Amino acid sequence: MRIVTAIEDSIQEAASILKEGGLVAFPTETVYGLGANALDGKAVARIFEAKGRPQFNPLIAHVSDADQAAALVVFNEWAEIAAHHFWPGPLTLILPRKSDCAVNELVSAGLETIAVRVPSHPVALKLLQAAGVPVAAPSANVSGTLSPTTPQHVAEGLGDKVDMILAAGACDVGLESTVLDLSGDVPVVLRPGAVTAEDLSRVLECDVVVEDGDTDKPKSPGMMLKHYAPSIPVRMNAIDLEPGEALLAFGSDQFMGVNGGGAAKDLPETQRRNLSEDGDLNEAAANLFAMLRALDRPEHKAIAVMAVPDQGLGVAINDRLKRAVS
Ligand code: TXA
Ligand code: MG
Repeated sequence: MRIVTAIEDSIQEAASILKEGGLVAFPTETVYGLGANALDGKAVARIFEAKGRPQFNPLIAHVSDADQAAALVVFNEWAEIAAHHFWPGPLTLILPRKSDCAVNELVSAGLETIAVRVPSHPVALKLLQAAGVPVAAPSANVSGTLSPTTPQHVAEGLGDKVDMILAAGACDVGLESTVLDLSGDVPVVLRPGAVTAEDLSRVLECDVVVEDGDTDKPKSPGMMLKHYAPSIPVRMNAIDLEPGEALLAFGSDQFMGVNGGGAAKDLPETQRRNLSEDGDLNEAAANLFAMLRALDRPEHKAIAVMAVPDQGLGVAINDRLKRAVS
């Protein structure tokens, strides 16, 4: 495992690792983050693999300034004000994804919105500037354990699963950023943090609703985070197709038949996607949301999904498919 003191050279190297699809743990003012290039779905899938997270929850895209954020999401007046007052800093804004936004759908778990944040830690800022791409980063801990506030915490939890740990001592805040949803009619705090609802209410000059929608905490009914679900039925573990169904394959679909006659491989392009022809779970995770979306069309009776092995990242893929079924 590589713990490297953050200096100019190591930050440049960390930026290169990120650009090449690797994982870098880096300090922010809140907690250490486990970063991957947000434009690279396979790199983002590695985050979930490393954390051993059995679910795909949406991640924060970290950027070096508000302009870079504005290239990804649609800013409204609240967002302009909040960004002006609290960035760089421990505030995450949830805003609608721009139509030409290149962030991989796995980052936002298929949602129409993306979480963006400009951290204030000088090492984080330097790294983001050097990488020049948005960096998806949850806290750099194994799923279900405490968020890390020192490089040693990261090393103990994730060890060799990260390509590099950029070390810069203990984090100042020690608590994850405030998550503020600005995509609706009223500003809603989804996760409390160092920037309080009172701070936000004063600066935005309006009421701010506080709702605990954090997926990290036990869910109470009615307070669950919204998640992407296709508008047509989803059928799992398909071994053949019904007429009118779209196919989401995993591995080879060469010998899959359509009931009543025909072969899946002869379906039109619009009706057939393959999560990974090689049966690679990492690639499948990176493709999952974009492909579900592509097949989610009213002319299809349902989306039939071939079996995905329930191991490694397959657990999170199947979790999401099961939710789409019910
Ligand atoms: O302080 C922090 O925010 C740290 C450092 C590394 O920046 N990061 C962090 O990331 O805590 P994570 O992935 O553990 O938490 C992201 C939070 C989750 O509660 C998630 O549900 C929420 O942000 N979130 C992300 N995207 C969202 C979206 N599109 N809509 C609603 N909530 C979203
Ligand atoms: Mg976390």
